[in-house]
Amino acid sequence: MFNEKDLTAIDLTQEATAEEPLRQYYFMAKLRELVKTLSEERGRPLLVYNLVVGCQMNAKDSEKLLGILLQAGFVETEAEDGADLVVYNTCTVRENANQKVYGRLGYLNSLKRQNPDMLIAMCGCMMQEPHVVETIRTKYRFVDLVFGTHNIYKIAELLYLRVTTGKMVIDILKDAKTIVEDLPAQRKYSFKSGVNIMFGCNNFCTYCIVPYVRGRERSRKAEDILKEIRQLVADGVVEVMLLGQNVNSYGKDLEEPVSFASLLRRVNDIPGLKRIRFMTSHPKDLSDELIEAMRDCEKVCRHLHLPLQSGSSRILERMNRHYTKEQYLMLVDKIRREIPDMALTTDIIVGFPGETEEDFEDTMDVVRRVRYDSAFTFIYSKRTGTPAASMPDQVAPGVVKERFDRLLKLVQQIASETVGKDCGKVLEALVEEEDEHQPGFITGRLSNNVMVHFPGGRELIGTIVPVRLTEAKGFYYLGRMEPYKE
Ligand code: 5AD
Ligand code: SF4
Repeated sequence: MFNEKDLTAIDLTQEATAEEPLRQYYFMAKLRELVKTLSEERGRPLLVYNLVVGCQMNAKDSEKLLGILLQAGFVETEAEDGADLVVYNTCTVRENANQKVYGRLGYLNSLKRQNPDMLIAMCGCMMQEPHVVETIRTKYRFVDLVFGTHNIYKIAELLYLRVTTGKMVIDILKDAKTIVEDLPAQRKYSFKSGVNIMFGCNNFCTYCIVPYVRGRERSRKAEDILKEIRQLVADGVVEVMLLGQNVNSYGKDLEEPVSFASLLRRVNDIPGLKRIRFMTSHPKDLSDELIEAMRDCEKVCRHLHLPLQSGSSRILERMNRHYTKEQYLMLVDKIRREIPDMALTTDIIVGFPGETEEDFEDTMDVVRRVRYDSAFTFIYSKRTGTPAASMPDQVAPGVVKERFDRLLKLVQQIASETVGKDCGKVLEALVEEEDEHQPGFITGRLSNNVMVHFPGGRELIGTIVPVRLTEAKGFYYLGRMEPYKE
């Protein structure tokens, strides 16, 4: 496990220190004693099941949660049924995610009736909404622990509290002041890893709940980020994904401000690291300095995710996005001029309040002009508490659905044409897994984020190999490995 520590050296006869992360290691050791006693009683290891939904930020948080729990002696299981501890790491960016969680809670209740010792912990973005916590506190009394996005590092302490007091524990912070470094993490992939570079968002796009549930922007110190990446490389990682809601404003809040472009150059200099990705870039903050850094840094992958949200300047203003259709298109031109092989992907929302047919046509127009390699398309979802939720002219669901279908068709048609353009070439692929559908095949990711399936064995997982792209299949390629060039 990454950042594993020896807990036996901790003196548990003393009170817990207030200093972090030492305090958390103390509680991991305390919890470990409890877990040991319980597993001796039950004659088997204590099992933890973790369900994570939502973005890469949540996936990364779950790796930290699991790291702490495994360090405390739990063993991970793939099944809820039979687990001693279930942790749900929730997302709340769109309404349907919330509905699913309440549905799952009903199911967990039935499991807990059969196994009353089972512990249920709820965390993540949804728990940062006061009405959700209130609903759980009053209607889902069987939940044991509720915590939010700012204190995931405290799970051992909170769980210890729950077990020793026997009461439901609810611990939600409105915002986080400090960033706790150096905690363990159970990394999902041995060869690639997300790396948080900043937390929170200051942009307040009017449809978005993220700034309310993830708090204000806080950047990690460049030194801490670089140290973590060096450790990851030593642990076998060849590709990192730098994570932040808006990476382009990285470092502005630090005592000694650092730009994202300069961070990128410093990460690029780390020996042994092969690939760098990052997510997400806000178009309003994408500087020339950053475009130059992307162009110059050979490890930066040829893929940029640049959320458009809408192609209509009028809607973009109502969304509080701080750019116009023309500015976005100029930015795309500039990127393509400097880095012609850069794949572009995007996020688009259909049916934002007040969106007319003309506004929607502007979105279609941008899609036709930019020709994205792929696009995530979303139906606007009303999030209580955001400014857009109380805008008067919400669009009728039937109209939205019809526009959404038109957009999806266009996006897919363009993507299949764009993705096929490298057919016949030899490109480097990072082998990620065995192909689920075809025995004897493996799946690799190209620098531009497109997948390629080709014959090969699992021993190649985690390596970068040259692959000839022999057939374009719409969103992916089939290929064959080429001999390495000297
Ligand atoms: N409705 C629909 N989509 C949304 N997104 C964020 N908030 C909403 C909402 N209320 C989309 C945006 C963002 C992506 C992560 O989710 O496109 O870029
Ligand atoms: Fe939400 Fe906008 Fe922040 Fe992205 S930049 S997390 S869409 S508020």
